[in-house]
Amino acid sequence: MDHPSDLTMESGDGSNPFVRYVGSEVLLSLQNLRTDAETEPSFLITTQVNELLFKLAHIESVRARDQLEDDDVAGALRTLRRLRNVYTALNGSWDVLTSLSPTEYAEFRDALGEGSGFQSYMYRHMEFLLGHKVAMMAEGHRGHQPTYRDLLRSLGEMSLYDAALRLLWRRGLPVPRDSVERDWSEAVPPVREEIVEVWRTVYTEQDKYADVYLLAEALVDVAFDLCRWRNTHLLSVERLLGSKTGTAGSSGANWLRRVAEQRFFPELWAVRARL
Ligand code: HEM
Repeated sequence: MDHPSDLTMESGDGSNPFVRYVGSEVLLSLQNLRTDAETEPSFLITTQVNELLFKLAHIESVRARDQLEDDDVAGALRTLRRLRNVYTALNGSWDVLTSLSPTEYAEFRDALGEGSGFQSYMYRHMEFLLGHKVAMMAEGHRGHQPTYRDLLRSLGEMSLYDAALRLLWRRGLPVPRDSVERDWSEAVPPVREEIVEVWRTVYTEQDKYADVYLLAEALVDVAFDLCRWRNTHLLSVERLLGSKTGTAGSSGANWLRRVAEQRFFPELWAVRARL
């Protein structure tokens, strides 16, 4: 059997290659708790893990978008598979938070002040790249110029969904011109009828559009699992706060319920009623 003393702990220069690569010293020094409450570490560390996974989701969304722009559908499908699994990991993280009781959460909630996940800019980058362009969500960060500039850049970028529509258009499907060449920062109508029709063609002529059909379902997988995150967030908030208002000042669960109804890639949801 391998003996631990035979394994490498340090490189020749005395440094620890794992710690150097992972940045453990910085990463593990960031858990700045505000109270002695027993469950605050669960809350803070899970929230930090969520932030990191939002970042990974953003990275994978950008990659999938670029692969679609390069007509590399097989590559985009591989990336979307990883993206979906990022959301699976995010969804699993709620198990840590739902083990808190309302009284345990109340022990440190006041110490959060007005701090709320609503102020997460990584979450907004991720939303923008998935096509949910609400400029106001960038405006809230105007006070911190580097963050604001980055968010405006994301807002102005083509989304993963825009890239999917452009692929359909290059394949000769009748996607309206103003959906494939436009100011990407602008919000679009909730459901564009012509695009629902295009997806209907893809679903009803699966043999002809085999790879695009797989792409459609992979996008729905992603939207489904992100929606699941939002719904579990809502349910967790109901469990911990009931009808209390949020730390950012919203009506709390009522506000989150409306957010949870919003759908990414809306025409892919609308088409289901036409099949
Ligand atoms: C378990 C304790 C949690 C509670 C009680 C809670 C509560 C809330 C509430 C009430 C809101 C609405 C805005 C407000 O008025 O504050 C909100 C928004 C939000 N929270 Fe949480 N939250 C929790 C955990 C988390 C975690 C772990 C994350 C991950 C970073 C997170 C991310 C968000 C995001 C991104 C929003 C904005 C949603 C949107 O605009 O779509 N929350 N949260």
